[in-house]
Amino acid sequence: MIHPIVKYGDPILETPTKSVEKFDDDFQALIADMFESMYAAQGVGLAAPQVGIGLRVTVIDVSNGKNPEAKLVCANPKIIYTEGEQREEEGCLSLPGFRGYVARPQYVTIRAQDAAGKEFEMKGEGLLARAFCHEIDHLDGVLFISHLGMLKRDIIKRKIRKMKKAGEW
Ligand code: NI
Repeated sequence: MIHPIVKYGDPILETPTKSVEKFDDDFQALIADMFESMYAAQGVGLAAPQVGIGLRVTVIDVSNGKNPEAKLVCANPKIIYTEGEQREEEGCLSLPGFRGYVARPQYVTIRAQDAAGKEFEMKGEGLLARAFCHEIDHLDGVLFISHLGMLKRDIIKRKIRKMKKAGEW
């Protein structure tokens, strides 16, 4: 089932999530829905709060559905190692239409659990490293705009307030 993506302004996006404890059928259904919703929105990552669920799980596919091996479920993920730096434009499905340059590590190693609850470690480079950081931020209740300069962030917030008033957000 495709869920509507929760947009900036909903407090769930800025609330830290709870650990995944059960890797049961409900959890599998949630993951399937998250992949479906992410592909429908043409995103490369989606965190549970973005579909209104306060659980510590994110799905990632930096191949946009082209490579089945790129499909990742990261439950209870933690960043355990970072190296280098990259500075690229970043966006978020919860902030459609807004982008900004965010500095992230070039290499990021995470430890997480897969859909079955099995622990794994994975090293990402470039876009995948960025996705790891962006999605784990979501699980901590942090949005990419909090990494922007205050001026840029305030411009975005002001535009969103205007759009809300006009019923466009
Ligand atoms: Ni996002």
